[in-house]
Amino acid sequence: MQVLTLEQFIADRQQEIEGATGAFSKILRDLSLGAKLISFHLRRAALSGILGELGITNVQGESVQKLDHLSNTLFRQLFAKNPHMAGFASEEDDTFTPLNPEGKYVIVVDPLDGSSNIDVGVPVGTIFSIYRRRTPVGTPCTEADFLQGGRAQVAAGYILYGTSTLLFYTTGKGVHGFTLEPAAGDFLLSHPDVKMPEKSSYYSFNDNQFHEWPPALQAFITTFHQENRRSAKPQSLRYVGSLVADFHRNLLKGGFFMYPGTVAKPEGKLRLLYEAYPMAWLIEEAGGAATNGVQPILDIPPTKLHQRTALFLGPKTFLEKLAQTLSDHVPVEKV
Ligand code: AHG
Ligand code: MN
Ligand code: MN
Repeated sequence: MQVLTLEQFIADRQQEIEGATGAFSKILRDLSLGAKLISFHLRRAALSGILGELGITNVQGESVQKLDHLSNTLFRQLFAKNPHMAGFASEEDDTFTPLNPEGKYVIVVDPLDGSSNIDVGVPVGTIFSIYRRRTPVGTPCTEADFLQGGRAQVAAGYILYGTSTLLFYTTGKGVHGFTLEPAAGDFLLSHPDVKMPEKSSYYSFNDNQFHEWPPALQAFITTFHQENRRSAKPQSLRYVGSLVADFHRNLLKGGFFMYPGTVAKPEGKLRLLYEAYPMAWLIEEAGGAATNGVQPILDIPPTKLHQRTALFLGPKTFLEKLAQTLSDHVPVEKV
């Protein structure tokens, strides 16, 4: 295995982001420092009393875990000192935080994804998405800098705090994965140019809401289970409730993930800017597809920072079949 650090990998591929004069390296350096520190805290959280709830509710209406708050504060502090970063928006914060007016980029983060799993030892992650700002350099960033839409991302990725600490990212030139080498304190290239297998080994969804899904989706999933049972190599259910962990496993082994909307909440649970856009770009770069059932996630126009969306991730052909079924049966309004 060639020993190639994340920094060297980016340096060797100059212009990772068009016109980025080393800014991208500095941003990734801050992300990887945050990843190492959060990994350290997670691995011994029970011993240092940072498990459990902080006792406040965030803008999502969710109880904030102590490690949600720690991760969010850490990343905001790291980027506040980064001269290239003009703004920071987090799933945990009511609104965005203007940082350096001279910065050319803004970042959107889900600082800790899968919070319900922190206390029970199941992998959690960080999700990030980077945009070039639209407003003039030298002025404070505005909300418009964060609401540019999925196809305006210049970089996106995740950190998985699992059996290894992994950092996967794309800048539109494939998906590349790095593993933290604790002996060196560096992320080393371990998964160059990742492509998702067309054949799925797993399916991932929480079917406790089956009765609330649109009838066309109920029919699609019922048929899916019937066909799967008849298959020579049936797919297994794997759903851990951390999007980053479910995504990563399905990216490497092939799989279908969904968090649908319900008739009551058609917009679903997952967040467009913090979770769906970055994961959608990554899976498209790896040869797969991401939709809200009928429309590519990356084509959904953003209207507000904490917008939610139904999310379907998987092989292109499978999602095309789903879109056909949903379009034929139920007039699912395009957003
Ligand atoms: P977060 O911890 O950042 O709020 O994200 C949790 C999300 C996502 O990671 C996961 O796919 C989904 O919640 C699981 O939701 P359910 O527990 O309702 O299945
Ligand atoms: Mn999340
Ligand atoms: Mn989160």
